[in-house]
Amino acid sequence: MLLRKFYLLLTAGLLTGFAYSQKKQDGSAMYKNAALPVETRVKDLLKRMTVEEKAGQLNQLTGGAFTGPALNDAGQQAKMQMVRDGKVGSMLNVIGATETKAIQTIAIEDSRLGIPLLFGYDVIHGYKTIFPIPLAEACSWNLNNIEKNTGVAAREAASAGIHWTFAPMCDVGNDIRWGRVMEGAGEDPWYAGLVSAARVKGFQGNLDEQHVLACVKHFAAYGAVEAGREYNYTDVSRVALWNKYLPPYEAAVKAGAASVMNGFNTFEGVPVSGSHYLVTDVLKKKWGFTGFLVSDWASFGEMITWGYAADAADAAAKALQAGSMMDMEARVMIAHLPELLKQGKVTVHQLDEAVGRILEAKFKLGLFDNPYKYCDVNREKATLFTAANRQQALQAAQEAVVLLKNNNKVLPISNKSARIAVVGHYADSKEDLFDFWIAQGEFKSAVTLLEGVRKVWGAEQVSFAAGYRADATTDDKLIAEAIANAAKSDVVLVNIGLSGKMAGEDRSLANPVVPEAQVQLLKALKATGKPVIAVVSAGRPLVLTAVEELADAIVYGWILGTESGNALANILSGVANPTGKTVMSFPYAVGQIPVYYNHFNTGRPVQTDGQGNWYSRYRDIPREPLYPFGFGLSYTSFQYSNLQLSSALTDKGKVVTATVTVSNTGDREGEEVVQWYIRDYAAAVIRPVKELKGFEKVSLKPGESKQISWKVDDKVLSFYDASGNLVLESGKFTVYAGGNSRDVLEASLEVR
Ligand code: NOJ
Repeated sequence: MLLRKFYLLLTAGLLTGFAYSQKKQDGSAMYKNAALPVETRVKDLLKRMTVEEKAGQLNQLTGGAFTGPALNDAGQQAKMQMVRDGKVGSMLNVIGATETKAIQTIAIEDSRLGIPLLFGYDVIHGYKTIFPIPLAEACSWNLNNIEKNTGVAAREAASAGIHWTFAPMCDVGNDIRWGRVMEGAGEDPWYAGLVSAARVKGFQGNLDEQHVLACVKHFAAYGAVEAGREYNYTDVSRVALWNKYLPPYEAAVKAGAASVMNGFNTFEGVPVSGSHYLVTDVLKKKWGFTGFLVSDWASFGEMITWGYAADAADAAAKALQAGSMMDMEARVMIAHLPELLKQGKVTVHQLDEAVGRILEAKFKLGLFDNPYKYCDVNREKATLFTAANRQQALQAAQEAVVLLKNNNKVLPISNKSARIAVVGHYADSKEDLFDFWIAQGEFKSAVTLLEGVRKVWGAEQVSFAAGYRADATTDDKLIAEAIANAAKSDVVLVNIGLSGKMAGEDRSLANPVVPEAQVQLLKALKATGKPVIAVVSAGRPLVLTAVEELADAIVYGWILGTESGNALANILSGVANPTGKTVMSFPYAVGQIPVYYNHFNTGRPVQTDGQGNWYSRYRDIPREPLYPFGFGLSYTSFQYSNLQLSSALTDKGKVVTATVTVSNTGDREGEEVVQWYIRDYAAAVIRPVKELKGFEKVSLKPGESKQISWKVDDKVLSFYDASGNLVLESGKFTVYAGGNSRDVLEASLEVR
């Protein structure tokens, strides 16, 4: 709606007014010559630009929608005037081939130098065809498919005029109160790095018009927000920074990510947009990042609110001095860079370095040579929401589901004549299916659980009762309806959890639990004596301790996207065998948060016999999570045996081969994620009790066994010191193999 209005306004502006007569630059200018190297073209263009135009390249404005707090919005006509004046380098939230083309035309035709705009958008888990949230997608442990899924999102977005997505989020988080864990790949830094790299490759491909630029965010350590509260303070040591937080960003940068976004948080008391250490020393110098940076929404200006910059001019100076570049919607760069340059507070070199990198990205995308190559309405129509894209989304959703409990093999429901009571408001609510980050995804075309189940078992066999309301309350009547349906059925499928709307940015929760009304409902359903299968929807792990006691089976359905209901129905009916393994630990209780598998031993670890006093634990709940990292069941079962190392004693520089036998001990074919962990016992800085260092997803027929092998090399056994150098120390290690981070076989290894 808003966009439509914006477009009307824009075309009205084009037709009626702003007769803009500018002396265009000479068409033979070197920067316009596609035959010249990008570097030459950038240099030529920089020479021609005024300081104001350079500041303009560092200015990013929102188009139709706001994905952050509204500033004094100048209004769309004023924004278009700024585009004409060369005061805007990029826009976000401008949607569709038509709209992007209209605005690009203004930049090309009406601005003095005709520098194309870069259009950015949050394409987080799909553009029109919505895929599972990244956290869920990561539970597939299928890097090839993650890359493919991201490729679909890129193709769709690129066909709609988008050049650049603000993804992947590489923040490692282990606090489920933080709503943004949905955007990441879980609590393991190494695995999150692999996923981030796969997503970068999927988005960027070979940087043609079928792909979009990736943006690694939120640099850095935003996942450490205190108390899981969005926009909050972070305080991490350099050892934690290097070992826990930086690896995913580094992997994404090394995978060729074109851009990086500053976070909202702080590092060593400095808002990260102004952190010279992070932006210049680490990102540019140590990692050799040659792309460009963008702030998070208004984060340059927020350096004032944090108490770090005195005013907007100071904020602009501090951001540029740190090495940061494009300003998303704080407008401090455009307002103050010219004066700061005059005052000598920033240098031409600093400015040119920032502007040059942004121009370079535009040249590399080919926008100077064909500014409209992403704005083809026919391509857009042919690309969005195709059957093939939906098929890919279905596959992704099936792989994302994690089966947490399956007592007495109550699942799958293979009986096609079973009568099924579907219970739960969310099962029949399209509005609750999605989170905020769905780009142009449409609620109406998403498939609910009820629709999916009806398709498989037939409408006449499936009853529905809401059981609780949208606001997570219930009453006797709602519960009585659910019980009545359950009584007439063979099995109860109850959809509990949280609305999709509770996931994502600005969705921190003090109580990430299953709402009390749903627990009441579960108790009532359990009392019917029918098998109760809980399908849990949420953008994060929830505390499931009450559910674990009441449900016979628990299917963790996250937020699965467009094909949600079809994917869940395929899992429930056994058409698809679950293969997902959780990439975040499920806490036993809220007070246990953050709980994560790769914690430290402490000086007083839990005693094995659970007896005695004076050790690190809780008096009222277990120390361990309800479900550990890496956990997930299949409809078949797997057994691990015979873990062996090619040598128990090794030297630096040598490679040890670890092998383990994995057997399918059940009665159907299945896929297992074989996980390899290590522990380093005495190191210059303490190391976690377990660290994931390898995995392989293998398919096994019933009764089949496979020997899986894994190479233990220097890299696997190393860690980072506080300066970011990889260190390998001699000493004792353990190698673990298993189907999750808790249930493992182990073998000792010594490095000389
Ligand atoms: C703020 C969010 O933190 C960031 O992830 C997002 O890309 C921007 N807004 C733009 O919408």
